[in-house]
Amino acid sequence: MSAIILHDKTFVPMISAEEIATRVAQVGQQIATDLADRNPLIVGVLNGAFVFMADLVRQLPINCETSFLRVASYSGMQSTGQVRELIGLDQDLTGRTLVIVEDIIDSGRTMVHLLEQLKSRGAADIRIATLLVKPQNLEVDLKVDYCAFEIPNDFIVGYGLDYDGLGRNYPDIYVYQG
Ligand code: IMP
Ligand code: MG
Repeated sequence: MSAIILHDKTFVPMISAEEIATRVAQVGQQIATDLADRNPLIVGVLNGAFVFMADLVRQLPINCETSFLRVASYSGMQSTGQVRELIGLDQDLTGRTLVIVEDIIDSGRTMVHLLEQLKSRGAADIRIATLLVKPQNLEVDLKVDYCAFEIPNDFIVGYGLDYDGLGRNYPDIYVYQG
């Protein structure tokens, strides 16, 4: 693995595809053990989670359904600032067990907002599975049920994550160097 350049910035290797595969398999085993008899709905958060989602669901030898949603962020009229609207996921969630699959939890605000909206639609049990979490950046009280890696407060790309649109296609994870 060598450094990659995206736009004007250099990123260096941080977590290899092999290390990722090992952890994704372990997280998948945990989820499969916990939710085997629940027919969970596995919900990927686009765009960033598409790679993790594809690998994770193939580590679940159980009956489950899959779907995706998108969170559109825009500045609202209120002084509270950001509005995050949930797009997609049209099916009935009443009584369902959900696993939300995210690429990365940073401040945690996106996830808190998603949880609120999904709870209000009647989901019985909502679990969070994330590839990465930056614990030092968490601004909210969030229970992360399944996490592959905890990382320092750095900016990373690859394996679905982007810097200004670039980098999602790399199989390894890279960290910003300068
Ligand atoms: P949060 O609401 O602060 O937790 O933001 C989470 C979202 O920010 C993720 O879904 C990513 O889209 C983005 N994000 C946070 N940290 C990074 C990073 O290091 N690289 C790429 N995207 C990131
Ligand atoms: Mg995301």
